[in-house]
Amino acid sequence: MPEDLSPQIIQKTQDLREALHRHNYRYYVLDDPEISDAEYDRLLQELMRLEEKYPQLMRPDSPTVRVGAPPLEKFDSVAHTIPMLSLDNGFNDEDILEFDQRVRRNLGEPDEILYTAEPKMDGVAVELIYETGKLMTAATRGDGQTGEVITANVKTIQTVPLVMQPDRSRAIPTRCEIRGEVFIGLEAFKRLNQERIRQKQPPFANPRNAAAGSLRQLDSKITATRPLEVFFYGVGLVEGTAFESHGELLKVLKQWGFRINPLIRSGITIEAALDYYRELSERRHQLAYDIDGVVVKVDRISLQQQLGATSRSPRWAIAYKFKAIQETTTIEAIEVQVGRTGVLTPVAHLKPLNVGGVRVSRATLHNQDEVEKKDVRIGDHVLVQRAGDVIPEIVKVIVSKREGRETAFKMPTACPICNSRVIRMEGEAATRCINSSCSAQVKERIKHFASKGAFDIDGLGDKLVDQLVDKGLLSSFADIFKLDENALSQLERMGVKSAANLKSAIENAKSITFARFLFALGIRHVGEHVAAVLADYFIELDPLMNCSREELEAVDGIGPTVAESIIQFFKQKRNRRIIDQILAGGVKLEAAAPKKAGKLDGRVFVLTGKLENYTRSRAKALIKAAGGKVSGSVSGNTDFVVGGEAPGSKLDRARKLGVKIIDEEALKKLLGD
Ligand code: IVH
Repeated sequence: MPEDLSPQIIQKTQDLREALHRHNYRYYVLDDPEISDAEYDRLLQELMRLEEKYPQLMRPDSPTVRVGAPPLEKFDSVAHTIPMLSLDNGFNDEDILEFDQRVRRNLGEPDEILYTAEPKMDGVAVELIYETGKLMTAATRGDGQTGEVITANVKTIQTVPLVMQPDRSRAIPTRCEIRGEVFIGLEAFKRLNQERIRQKQPPFANPRNAAAGSLRQLDSKITATRPLEVFFYGVGLVEGTAFESHGELLKVLKQWGFRINPLIRSGITIEAALDYYRELSERRHQLAYDIDGVVVKVDRISLQQQLGATSRSPRWAIAYKFKAIQETTTIEAIEVQVGRTGVLTPVAHLKPLNVGGVRVSRATLHNQDEVEKKDVRIGDHVLVQRAGDVIPEIVKVIVSKREGRETAFKMPTACPICNSRVIRMEGEAATRCINSSCSAQVKERIKHFASKGAFDIDGLGDKLVDQLVDKGLLSSFADIFKLDENALSQLERMGVKSAANLKSAIENAKSITFARFLFALGIRHVGEHVAAVLADYFIELDPLMNCSREELEAVDGIGPTVAESIIQFFKQKRNRRIIDQILAGGVKLEAAAPKKAGKLDGRVFVLTGKLENYTRSRAKALIKAAGGKVSGSVSGNTDFVVGGEAPGSKLDRARKLGVKIIDEEALKKLLGD
């Protein structure tokens, strides 16, 4: 032992390792961290420094191994103690009910069997072997009998425990084999591919391929840069302890530090498992990772053992696969649509088909770059995908099916609606029609204005807006409030009654919250959420219209792009005129509910100096909302002067006039903020 390796240093290293393992567990498994990311990094750095200085202190289970080990020549192979089988598949409820009947028949017809239902992760199966709680070997499934040793790679995954957490009620087994699925989340996958494209590397086809490719790197330093995650769902051989049910097994695994999918449901009937499948089919597109079905497992371990397995798959489990969300069809035409901001979007007209139970006849092609990247041509056979409720998408062209008669698509150089010039800004993917009076833009802006999250005008649907704009009855927002009931009733598919209904719906819509009003204006980057944030902050239209860029950026949740867009919008006289016209049409912004109703009724405030927690306009807005007034100069009428940092002469004047001077803290109290 070199002289300077003191017992204190050995102890310190051990303590750091233990702390890091514990924090990892709290963060990844319990989702309840005790320290910040920065603190974690500091501890890790400290341990790395110690291990670098004293290499003899390095251990294979040190949290620092996650950065990767020296590259391998090739992977070793390892025989699985217990084969890693696959699962039988079911595709409809009958298949699953038959599975349940098979299970009961094989068990001598008990009344009811309870199951565990789990998301079927679309990733790569791995087996982790722990000896006395330490991760020794990690292997791929391989052919089910023999896998490849990928220990160094698996150790780089943050969610893999390098040492098991002790559990009070159960000793750590001498040996145990833990099984799970390694995957890459959808967000991380997107970023990974963007980065690869930037570095001129081919992108991965899907998250599963990316996970598989990352796990099979001979250089684990590369694996360490990949955003791999893991959920555990079972065991191979476990020596020295036993479990009653699969549900219990998962609970204990979690105690030991293995990350378990929180969506798993245990101890349920087969009918409940079918409900679970339906629930997950609906939720799957909201999940942060890909799943391709539900795995239904007999819950009781003794029953699993009685049932056994075929050479291919266990008799106690089945995968209920989701309906395919990808199908093939052909492109009959590509039409260009013009949106409310003038963006030209190519839309493929497809030979109608059924994707995962929904009829699809159109798919967006986004923009010129996208068409070129995918090399989509009219007449092509394509793979179409529907993800959740979003618009169907063309995944790729099936090039092998080309016959030579397909025609390439070119973005038009003039707007297909108004024939104006179209432009494409530097660094933007979108091509835009420059004519803001283009009838397509007008129609889309008005549809947005009347839509649910905005003015929510019942009866003013897309078809009617098209008709009204085409007939020249509608060309601006304000026109909506001037629509003539008589003229309306003469329109196709309208009548006296629907015209009257529409008129009264428009009348009702005139009273609107500030947030909805803002959203309705269709300012770029101001969606429902941003509109709500702005309305909450500025409370009234005037302070927002007249505020500075700095002030906007100071609002929580408003970044530079949004701020710029808002400034640009209100800078244009045309937009201010539009707003005036809407208000002149009788639209009233509902007063925001005052924080403390009428608390400051009639009190006059003067602000001076810089406030710490309020910008000027926010302070003004809040005072006004509470019924107070804000004046620019101190007079005998002034009730309070609020003095901030570096106040001006107003403070002196207040003193002279004997006006009450308060600080920010007192203002805050008055506002009940
Ligand atoms: S249990 C003996 N549970 O599906 C059966 N497998 O098709 C062991 N998979 O190789 C599998 N999520 O890679 C099980 N919750 C889950 C799963 C799951 C994904 C994968 C696993 C397996 C394949 C079988």
